[in-house]
Amino acid sequence: MQQIPTSSPPSTNDAPGMTLPDEYILSHIDPEGELLEELTRDAHVNLLRPRMMAGHLQGRILKMLCRLLRPRRILEIGAYTGYATLCMAEGIDRDARIHTIEIDDEMEDFMMKYIRRSPYEEKITVHFGDAIDIIPLLDETFDMVFIDADKQRYPAYYDLAFPRLRSGGIIVADNTLWDGKVASPPQPLDKQTAGILDFNEKIREDTRIEKVILPLRDGLTVIWKK
Ligand SMILES: C[S@@+](CC[C@H](N)C(=O)[O-])C[C@H]1O[C@@H](n2cnc3c(N)ncnc32)[C@H](O)[C@@H]1O
Repeated sequence: MQQIPTSSPPSTNDAPGMTLPDEYILSHIDPEGELLEELTRDAHVNLLRPRMMAGHLQGRILKMLCRLLRPRRILEIGAYTGYATLCMAEGIDRDARIHTIEIDDEMEDFMMKYIRRSPYEEKITVHFGDAIDIIPLLDETFDMVFIDADKQRYPAYYDLAFPRLRSGGIIVADNTLWDGKVASPPQPLDKQTAGILDFNEKIREDTRIEKVILPLRDGLTVIWKK
């Protein structure tokens, strides 16, 4: 993947703005499957911010990470439509489980419609509320954490999730290049960029982990806990 998109990346089926390499990649990797295609169409017609979803490429990458790492317990922070949740559910073993947290309870009908129609309902527990309040209540040790919610609070999610991640587990954090805005000083009121910058510095300084930023879509940081 040689191109770093400079604007919010298109979801998979978004023709406008899709670069040629994206089209090529999407036509040479596993398809999303009918349910996720329908979810994507539904989101584009009925939701305000469908581009927040992982989409085809990132969804397949999350599934592949699950195939490779075989996490038994996953925490997702920021579910939105459940697109990424369903991708990870596809990739984990039958008895593995995903806890996903979503602050916007208006997403419940949309998300549950697809989770219930999928073969993975049993693997997924959806918690509605603020991840900052809910993570401390989860009585689990996680093998994988996917951080994909409010950018201002990435450092706080990290601090809460880290003690609940086993050694050898991974954290995947989305949007860590944030439209390329991380490369220039943030505007004074741009709290989202400031949150991502704080998070990236925190990760750089943390000696308890190994880390790499994949220049995929909006930047995907993969963190391994020593
Ligand atoms: C980028 S979307 C998640 C997309 C999803 N992970 C995917 O890839 O398909 C971010 C979601 O995080 C939710 N969110 C924001 N702050 C949150 C918080 N403090 N706790 C839980 N969810 C939060 C938003 O309502 C939004 O639905």
